[in-house]
Amino acid sequence: MNASKNYLELYDAADDDDKYPLVSKWINSDDRLPFFAQLRKERAVLVTPECTLVARFPDVRDMLSMPKIFTVDLYKPKMSVTGPDDGYLMAHDDDALHYREKSLMQGMLNRDDLPRIRKLVAESAEKIINQAEGSIEVVNKYCRMVPVTLVQDYFGLDGVDPEDLIEWSYWNQYDAFNNQPFDMLTDEQSQYITDKHNSISDKLGAYIASLVVRKLVIIKATSGLRAMLGYPKQILLRLLGMSVKTKPDDIVTRMLRTAFAKEVDFPLTRLGINAGGLLIGAIETTSQATAQVIEYFINNPDLMKKAKQAASFEDRSEFDALVWEALRFVPIRPDIFRKASADYIIAKGTPHQTEVKKGTIVRLLTQSAMFDDYAFENPDEFNPNRNWYHNFNFGFGSHQCLGKYIGMVMIPEMIRQIILKPELEDAGPINYKNGPFPEEYHLKWRVVSSV
Ligand code: HEM
Repeated sequence: MNASKNYLELYDAADDDDKYPLVSKWINSDDRLPFFAQLRKERAVLVTPECTLVARFPDVRDMLSMPKIFTVDLYKPKMSVTGPDDGYLMAHDDDALHYREKSLMQGMLNRDDLPRIRKLVAESAEKIINQAEGSIEVVNKYCRMVPVTLVQDYFGLDGVDPEDLIEWSYWNQYDAFNNQPFDMLTDEQSQYITDKHNSISDKLGAYIASLVVRKLVIIKATSGLRAMLGYPKQILLRLLGMSVKTKPDDIVTRMLRTAFAKEVDFPLTRLGINAGGLLIGAIETTSQATAQVIEYFINNPDLMKKAKQAASFEDRSEFDALVWEALRFVPIRPDIFRKASADYIIAKGTPHQTEVKKGTIVRLLTQSAMFDDYAFENPDEFNPNRNWYHNFNFGFGSHQCLGKYIGMVMIPEMIRQIILKPELEDAGPINYKNGPFPEEYHLKWRVVSSV
């Protein structure tokens, strides 16, 4: 970190063409937090030639509360299915489709399932760690793999190679969130990502269609036979080769078993799109958060000591809070971006009031907002007892993460299982291979013999 560097002086002195690249370089390096601190203090809204940066908590929260003005239009071309007005709920701003499908999906992801999810995650994590016998490349073998188990066993996207699920999530996330005008990619790089996304979309679409048919057959077979023969459910399940234990309950099955009146407007095509959205949201985000927090703990030995202690408590809340505070320092990304659909005056009536014109891209610096002393006392201090309602790690407002409560148990549990290993160390920092996501990270620990 460089607390003495005067970023704004360097910025003002730079040629117009060099201004945004400078900003981007600082955001993607250890200069990020001191740069954000200077922004909050001296230029809380920075208008660059590429986009406008917003650094203070009240402005970020204000703008995320107005989805019709600060829109997700930049997601639209990345999340369309059959046309520009179609697409996944995330590419819709406060309209009937978003309101309807978000609430339906929130109901399907019943929060009462969370203990079951935590158990599933713990078992999957333990299994991988035990097989690793003291060393692992944790990104591909663990951080991406454990959420695959959730996607298969809880969401119900089963009967497919885990590597395919990982690839489908990866290229969707890459294209939507890291292939935008302000990412400063060359035309070739940008096209490569788009092409990759397009090619996997066809495969994902075909898989979802076959999944829906397969699950429908199972549902119809069980309920149809039961009605026909009057057999008790357990006998029927045995006839179909399923034990009572393996009776399917996953989110795709739940959606298919639920009867929606036609007027609800949730046909099978929309159900399939939402099933795909669960997968896309779950894997790469979880992987990045998990890898980065493990690295953060390893790099901060005092914190690691506390984390190890809390990891052994039966009540998980203390450990989970450490993870969520760590994520404020190493979030999966520092911003949420939007496009203005109208002219708007940011922070009206304050000394930093600034007008943004319709069409402007705004980068709402959520990480900076989480270091703003407006809402965070002594923000540079690590303090796990903060007000969770001020945290932006899962977004804010109408687009707040659909998987928030799942992520809130899955990520800490994945980290906990690793942290419990004695003499845990890494063989160097996470390797991002010049991309936005962790790609390689080697860990080792001492294996304790159980005999
Ligand atoms: C079970 C795993 C997950 C699923 C199924 C999921 C799904 C989603 C969906 C569907 C949205 C869009 C909601 C909307 O537009 O109304 C969303 C938003 C978001 N998610 Fe997740 N997500 C998951 C995990 C995560 C994780 C682990 C993180 C970060 C730690 C994260 C961060 C976010 C953020 C910041 C947004 C807001 C984006 C915006 O406002 O533009 N998600 N998520």
